[in-house]
Amino acid sequence: MKTILTVAKSFLIDCVPPNGIVGDFTMGNGHDTLFLSQLVPQGKVYAFDIQPQALESTRKLLDENQAGDNVQLICACHSTLDDYIHEPIDGGMFNLGYLPWSDKTVTTKCETTLTAIEKAVALLKPGGALVVMIYPGHPEGAREGQRIEAYAKELDRKKFDATLYRIFNIPDCPYFVAIEKRK
Ligand SMILES: C[S@@+](CC[C@H](N)C(=O)[O-])C[C@H]1O[C@@H](n2cnc3c(N)ncnc32)[C@H](O)[C@@H]1O
Repeated sequence: MKTILTVAKSFLIDCVPPNGIVGDFTMGNGHDTLFLSQLVPQGKVYAFDIQPQALESTRKLLDENQAGDNVQLICACHSTLDDYIHEPIDGGMFNLGYLPWSDKTVTTKCETTLTAIEKAVALLKPGGALVVMIYPGHPEGAREGQRIEAYAKELDRKKFDATLYRIFNIPDCPYFVAIEKRK
């Protein structure tokens, strides 16, 4: 079986062109940033995290993979993304929660996550997509999931397709919401 993260990434593979503009709104150790950098060899990745150590790990991973010339690493809350991105985007990823094996108190939070998703949705080009990985196994993750689902359900169906992908038979398994802007 494909991992749920692989399925989430497939949405971006399907809709982002090689010269696309994308956001990694939770950079962490840079695995998603590397994926996005390789997805848009002629494009640009805006990558955000509030932890300086995330920028260091990501820069190292990009360098080790001879990637990253097309990446801007930004040490800021994703809710301020419109201070940094002044162009429409083809896609973006949110991989919520906290860094594995790190300080679990530095986690994404409902309010700022929702603000960031709303701003990213506002920047989406027609045909573009956002994927939001949610980790309901910790309390803030469960709250984020409820709020994001409520938000996505209310999106105008004439403009967006909002879908939820979840493994039924594994309790508290990570799942994702995809928001695709219609052409
Ligand atoms: C699950 S990790 C991301 C994993 C990462 N995408 C990777 O490939 O390794 C979540 C990350 O979100 C970051 N984060 C938490 N709150 C944030 C915020 N308000 N804005 C941006 N990043 C935030 C954390 O510091 C953490 O590095």
